[in-house]
Amino acid sequence: MKPLTFLGIESSCDDTAAAVVRSDGTIMASVVEGQTALHAAFGGVVPEIAARAHAERLDTCVEQALTQAGLALTDLDGIAVTAGPGLIGGVLSGVMLAKGLALATGLPMVGVNHLAGHALTPRLTDGLKFPYLMLLVSGGHCQFLRVDGVDRFTRLGGSIDDAPGEAFDKVAKILALPQPGGPSVQAEAALGDAKRFPLPRPLLDRPGCDMSFSGLKTAVLRLRDTCMTGLGGLRAQDRRDICAAFQGAVADVLTEKTRRALLTCPDATALAVAGGVAANVEIRARLTALCNELDLRFLAPPLALCTDNAAMIAWAGIERFQSGALDGMELVARPRWPL
Ligand code: KG4
Ligand code: ZN
Repeated sequence: MKPLTFLGIESSCDDTAAAVVRSDGTIMASVVEGQTALHAAFGGVVPEIAARAHAERLDTCVEQALTQAGLALTDLDGIAVTAGPGLIGGVLSGVMLAKGLALATGLPMVGVNHLAGHALTPRLTDGLKFPYLMLLVSGGHCQFLRVDGVDRFTRLGGSIDDAPGEAFDKVAKILALPQPGGPSVQAEAALGDAKRFPLPRPLLDRPGCDMSFSGLKTAVLRLRDTCMTGLGGLRAQDRRDICAAFQGAVADVLTEKTRRALLTCPDATALAVAGGVAANVEIRARLTALCNELDLRFLAPPLALCTDNAAMIAWAGIERFQSGALDGMELVARPRWPL
């Protein structure tokens, strides 16, 4: 049977993306245009700027993806678009474009939940079978999802405040390290002693899979102030040791809570991770060790597919379409959309 070919459109946060993916798992094109530079001066994503950038760039991203794939719109079998959750301006731009393309071509259109896109990625990259446990850890998300089917997700827990990536970014800011904070804190931590400064392990003493990271950030702020040496500022080794302590605390919390989440899914075929924080070498090493201990498969898709992209949206669209989903012109953009 000829594989299906879908266009995917993603514009829910600060990446404008389009991709062409086939149902046999071939990614024919994946274009991601980030907006880091546009928001850099403001210390976070500014919704109005993001919305405008998406509106300006979506058309060309789609054109680029089709050119890379060597296809015309008429060669496609369907269009998948992120319909939420996310910043409403961006989601609206994507949904409007998808509707326009579907109307003009007569192609079927499928709305996709951004989180479902992340959660189904291990099936695109590795053909993973249900059920599995997904740990989604990025700058905006932090949750455990038990994945039983294309539309069957159970949230087992997550952060009750900051996402871990957000905490890495704020810690970098506190310690005057460059953004994004994850990679710069990781580089400093590699040269530090994680045992020198004790930091809390929030919510570890409570049952369940919920997590908290904002207290850690405040603890780092206090630690920095304690270490400050008048005119000399923060000594390089103190900064490295603080980074190592912080990264160690995040890794401890994620690993222990993952262990608990896995206990509730004895039938899971694997633990899969997604999101920018899944790039962290210490966190990856700890989760790999946990899975080795439990004799469970550990799966981390390539980073370009772990972070926001449209290939995951095209794939989730294909999976939903194959299971009978189809959206019409009534598809709405949703800022909030829990799985
Ligand atoms: O998934 P992502 O690219 O974007 C969204 O959040 O939507 O994740 C970005 C986050 C940032 O907060 C960044 O600091 C963090 O992932 N990050 C890392 C690492 N690389 C990126 N955090 C810890 N360690 C890393 N190596
Ligand atoms: Zn995402």
